[in-house]
Amino acid sequence: MKQFSKDFIFGTATSSYQIEGAANEAGRTPSIWDEFSKIPGKVWNGDTGDIACDHYHRFEEDIEIIKALGVDSYRFSIAWPRIFPYEGQYNPEGMEFYKKLAAKLNEAGIKPFVTLYHWDMPKWAHDKGGWVNRDSVQWFLEYAEKCFEELDGLVSMWITHNEPWCAALLGYYEGVHAPGHKDLEEAAKVSHHLLLSHGKAVKLYKNKLELDKPIGITLNLSPVYPASDSVEDLLAANNFDGYLNRWFLNPIFKGSYPSDMMNLYSKQIKSFDYIQQGDLLDISTPCDFFGINFYNRALIRYSSESTLLFEPGESDYPKTGMGWDVSPNEFKELIHTLRRDYTDLPIYITENGASYEDVLEEDGSVHDSERKDYMEQHLEAIAVLNEEGMNIRGYYLWSLLDNFEWAFGYNKRFGITYVDFTTQKRYMKDSAKRYAEIVHCRQL
Ligand code: FCB
Repeated sequence: MKQFSKDFIFGTATSSYQIEGAANEAGRTPSIWDEFSKIPGKVWNGDTGDIACDHYHRFEEDIEIIKALGVDSYRFSIAWPRIFPYEGQYNPEGMEFYKKLAAKLNEAGIKPFVTLYHWDMPKWAHDKGGWVNRDSVQWFLEYAEKCFEELDGLVSMWITHNEPWCAALLGYYEGVHAPGHKDLEEAAKVSHHLLLSHGKAVKLYKNKLELDKPIGITLNLSPVYPASDSVEDLLAANNFDGYLNRWFLNPIFKGSYPSDMMNLYSKQIKSFDYIQQGDLLDISTPCDFFGINFYNRALIRYSSESTLLFEPGESDYPKTGMGWDVSPNEFKELIHTLRRDYTDLPIYITENGASYEDVLEEDGSVHDSERKDYMEQHLEAIAVLNEEGMNIRGYYLWSLLDNFEWAFGYNKRFGITYVDFTTQKRYMKDSAKRYAEIVHCRQL
């Protein structure tokens, strides 16, 4: 039996574009995801977030589900195009929604954990060069400042950015996320501007506004393993680790980019002069906690055909519906590495969860035993890590609801609540019921 302490935070998470819908309401203008999802062939089945879970209209019903789970906290993100639908034009009506949401959560004793950027950059900003343009840092700061001023009293913790790797590399190098570009130089600039806007937002929050809620950033990390111990596979694994993990961890915690990756990238990036003096100091501004989204380990092998010399290896691990390895032991190794090499900040697992093919039974039940097992295995790992003194302060299950899973549209269900997208009816899956039990007794 594993016990969680009284002050351990149990939560569940979502993001704005994936659940809100109401794409044209209360002054909201399109984001890069509204645009991207409408390009034929980019998203499974041509799905978009136009309606999604219609959470914008149903948030009170959704808060009832959160209450039924009994969790301490709910993590959601703010849609930037609701707050600044046009450059320099603040939209109080857009902010109103988040004020109502956060106030209702507080009334129910649920702590709002708020992410400023979960990938929905306004189209107006993208039209001016988006994150490739260094001015994006100022646009983001203007947006962040408004959110801090208007919402800080209702918020318990802040995250600047969710998974900058996805926004930068999936969006600008691999081309599978908005805006769908395939240019490593752009992706490097984007990652730099995301990180810079993070560091400067933390400074603004603490030094200029003198606010004092915990603030941090969330990275998606996967511990990387070579498919064999051949020199080639070791090299490939090192490159992938640099690509996914160290390109973000090093600037944030060590104030420098990893030199092996600068070398590797320099074949495609003419100049790194977009990194200006003082930037890395800003990027490494101390935070109050570190957020980690963990889904799977990465098994990597050498590929002479790939520009960065790596490709996924063949793994015989059990897989989730995304084809991702179920790897709670490697999750523990990841945390050990982070503690050894990077940080002693309190850690929050800001996302963890799994998609599987769910079946909605006639009586409204969903027997998602695989998702339940996945959740239990990762919670057990956290309990063990905390026994070792690893200081993990909270866990946010992804996701409260089945939702718009980016390029996979509504084809991948990560929710612990089943959503019937034709009726918008919600059904608690078995995993949700089991989570409620664990949260209630704080043990597993
Ligand atoms: C993470 C994202 C989240 C969701 C999960 C499955 O990378 O932060 O929005 O898509 O993966």
